[in-house]
Amino acid sequence: MKFSSLLLTLFTASLASGTAYAQTPIIIKFSHVVAMDTPKGKAAERFKELAEKATKGRVKVELYPNSTLYKDKEELEALQLGAVQMLAPSLAKFGPLGVKDFEVFDLPYIFPSKDVLYRVTEGPIGRDLMKKLEPKGIVGLGFWDNGFKVMSANKPIHLPSDLKGQKLRIQSSKVLDAQMRALGANPQVLAFSEVYQALQTGVVDGTENPPSNLYTQKMHEVQKNVTLTNHGYLGYAVIVNKKFWDGLPADIRGELDGAMKAATKYANAIAQQENDNAMEAVRKSGKTIVYVPTDSERAEWRKTLLPVQKQMEERIGKDLIMSVNREAVALGYK
Ligand code: LMR
Repeated sequence: MKFSSLLLTLFTASLASGTAYAQTPIIIKFSHVVAMDTPKGKAAERFKELAEKATKGRVKVELYPNSTLYKDKEELEALQLGAVQMLAPSLAKFGPLGVKDFEVFDLPYIFPSKDVLYRVTEGPIGRDLMKKLEPKGIVGLGFWDNGFKVMSANKPIHLPSDLKGQKLRIQSSKVLDAQMRALGANPQVLAFSEVYQALQTGVVDGTENPPSNLYTQKMHEVQKNVTLTNHGYLGYAVIVNKKFWDGLPADIRGELDGAMKAATKYANAIAQQENDNAMEAVRKSGKTIVYVPTDSERAEWRKTLLPVQKQMEERIGKDLIMSVNREAVALGYK
């Protein structure tokens, strides 16, 4: 059999069997800013595994973790330009895109528990929020959980007043700016990849993180004190470039949607345990003092920070804040 007819036979056979090498795979570059061993890092890997399996290799997901491809601000610009196809930015990072509503997730004490959070992210409020991304050329595919945030600094933090005058790193969210100013602190927006060095060199005195981020970025090595305030929440929206997503063959889009739903379920199932494990590792490291506020101190934190919800009504929308709080009431909180 001549070589050319052998090739033709092989090619036809591969097309018939739908095997991967029949066509060049569709590449999804998935960039994010956290370590692999975090809720988002592990969920991204699970999505890659599920997506490549569901599409029988017709899609290849290239993961770029820990700001290796783009860091905070750059990654959203890259997505809108189509230089990357998928991201999972913190919900605190959509304000600069002009979608201020997402900052509702940053409000102090907005979620009394994870079950209230999931009613929002998996219900009509979450769906309506995702729709607000489309005019920006972005499609929201799902919300991935991380966790409640703790405060850290190089001085003991028992009461809100202990952070007065401290330079504290925040994400690019006006709600977090207002939160830190309510403590009398000086907020400073920095990219996540710059936080460790800024803490190490004293550019900032402290910050807030879910334990999984604090630990995997080794911030406990440059913060003498960590206080388990759980004053706010940090989670993610998994997003894709709209032009890319709408341009996919319908069957592939459906397979990717299914993979994303399964990866979202996985992310939300592991998030709390990942944060508990990280906090335990911080304690065991002996590198920082972990403080658990007393009930009266917790009441003081709430008294100081809850007014930020009212203060932010004009920016986020009173109706949206009330709709989230109604979810808490529906579950017997507040
Ligand atoms: C941060 O910047 O602190 C977080 O958004 C990082 C992340 O993606 O969890």
